Amino acid sequence: MKQPQNMNATATLKSSYTCTHSGLNDWVNQLKSLYQPDEVYWCDGSKQEYDQMCDMLVDKGTFIRLKKRPNSFACFSDPSDVARVEDRTYICSNTKEDAGPTNNWVDPDEMKATLQKLMAGCMKGRTMYVIPYCMGPLGSPISQIGVEITDSEYVVVNMHIMTRVGKKVVDLLGSNGEFVKCVHTVGAPLAAGQADVKWPCNPTVKYIVHYPEERSIVSYGSGYGGNALLGKKCFALRIASVMARDEGWLAEHMLILGVQNPEGEKTYVAAAFPSACGKTNFAMLIPPKELNGWKITTVGDDIAWIKPGKDGKLYAINPEAGYFGVAPGTNVKSNPNAMKTVESNTIFTNVGVTPDGDVWWEGMTKEVPKDIIDWHGKNWDPASGKPVAHPNARFTAPASQNPVLDPDWENPNGVLIGAIIFGGRRSTTIPLVYQAHNWNFGVYLAATMGSEMTAAAFGELGKVRRDPFAMLPFCGYHMGDYFNHWLQFGRNIPNPPRIFGVNWFRKDESGNFLWPGFGDNMRVLKWIVEKIKGKSNAVEGPIGWMPHYSDLDWTGLSFSVQQFDEIMSIEREQWKTELLSHAELFERMYDRLPKEFIFMRELLLSSLWRSPKKWSLEPERIDN
Ligand code: GTP
Ligand code: SPV
Ligand code: MN
Repeated sequence: MKQPQNMNATATLKSSYTCTHSGLNDWVNQLKSLYQPDEVYWCDGSKQEYDQMCDMLVDKGTFIRLKKRPNSFACFSDPSDVARVEDRTYICSNTKEDAGPTNNWVDPDEMKATLQKLMAGCMKGRTMYVIPYCMGPLGSPISQIGVEITDSEYVVVNMHIMTRVGKKVVDLLGSNGEFVKCVHTVGAPLAAGQADVKWPCNPTVKYIVHYPEERSIVSYGSGYGGNALLGKKCFALRIASVMARDEGWLAEHMLILGVQNPEGEKTYVAAAFPSACGKTNFAMLIPPKELNGWKITTVGDDIAWIKPGKDGKLYAINPEAGYFGVAPGTNVKSNPNAMKTVESNTIFTNVGVTPDGDVWWEGMTKEVPKDIIDWHGKNWDPASGKPVAHPNARFTAPASQNPVLDPDWENPNGVLIGAIIFGGRRSTTIPLVYQAHNWNFGVYLAATMGSEMTAAAFGELGKVRRDPFAMLPFCGYHMGDYFNHWLQFGRNIPNPPRIFGVNWFRKDESGNFLWPGFGDNMRVLKWIVEKIKGKSNAVEGPIGWMPHYSDLDWTGLSFSVQQFDEIMSIEREQWKTELLSHAELFERMYDRLPKEFIFMRELLLSSLWRSPKKWSLEPERIDN
């Protein structure tokens, strides 16, 4: 193993401030004695700190400085540590019933005993970093504070980009402010004199543990993404969903975007798609040039915290400050704004590296650059049939670099949400777009959403699984209670936003996408924002309201009535199968399932029962 070339970078890190929060200090001291790090360092959030830590990572061989992108780095993870580990993720609520049938559960006392044993001395030979951070704009009434303890420099620099980090957060906490306790270790202590590896982790033992009643998190053994950047899925979704249930708001796996029409009117829309199903793409979409005057701006690309205002309307913030986005498939055509966002100050994980110091991934350009290093850090062998970048390779980039960042993205009061969209990755069955009959049917639509598995988590690729609200891996409590919370939430507001379902991923019999997607998704979005204003039309179909061909703007795209008919068709037998799998989902959470769902399923079945074999929007084309 290569020895670090420069030990000085580590030696010169000295905390620049003293914390006066005794609860926080006591906790840090307690962890120090349990984990036995060589040093404790309090992160101040400065650029100098960021640069110094990046230099340390370069010295260690973890980071490769990219000549072609200012202040940017590439790194390769351990091959065992490339995505979230859902089977190692636990919701340790006091009772198993509260975690529900979709979460792994272990008794919290038992889990604490296991972890205490496992984690004794786990930071030996490393520095323990204290990262005070804020989810959401500093000082916003919707924001929340967390403190992550970690022994990973990679985590520190990623947290710098993804959240608001540092002394300013400690100041905000004052002497007794509340914060969520987040503990992370790569689970790879170093014996005296033992050289470090480039990507320390525990290749065999991993635990991502949440204590919802205590509002605390412990993550062991992984250094990657959502397993290790604890502000993101662990806090902003799993713990926050529990806070939201208790306090009457929503913590969701949703992007937030602004749609501006040619008259300059703006509508904000939130959309939930499962992991690696197009949230970042949709949030930064560039409308086709033929749709003159329409413009999209980004508030967030992954997580939304939504609260009812005094006016009974819904306001949302993006709790994050950066994007941890899927690299493969991103290019100047599919997502030009993402390409601009990652031109500088970006960390790339598990992409390929070119000999001239740039990055590359599948789908970035047509040709693979010559002599490329793959995500294993080896010379890529074109004959291997293996990809250059890992399919879940990601970039970490500051939101501030997004050319279409919404001017209100840090508005402490959030942005007014006009519509909510749900969409999975489905090759069949689900039409391009439809509107749920009302809030309750919208909740049903979201609760029964299915999606084909992607590389964002370990699992069987391509298999359809029910992913309610795109929250299956992220709900911190019983999914049935979560459905009830959504229903109750809608009852408490006088005029809840309209709910829509979309599917960009329907395929023909040869496996080709039926819909061009990406920028052309604007056509669907335009219909949606006009629909909620009563400016566009729809017909009532068996599962909800749907646009006619003539209700969508086709300027600049050749897409025929027949093609539209194909992608909007409701095939009776496919839908009966679909409804059977809804029943399977309901059976799993029978104890806490909203009773309304049983009736809504019956209503859908009754409207599909006698529908034509292939229900079509264009009656003259109906084929029984
Ligand atoms: P997470 O960060 O994992 O939560 O995912 P995300 O929902 O932000 O995913 P992202 O936007 O990064 O989407 C990744 C994948 O979806 C890439 O493979 C894209 O090519 C693909 N994708 C996005 N939008 C479209 C679309 O409109 N059509 C098709 N066919 N693919 C799309
Ligand atoms: C997801 O998987 O939905 C992500 C990436 O956004 S991670 O933060 O790794 O969970
Ligand atoms: Mn996500």
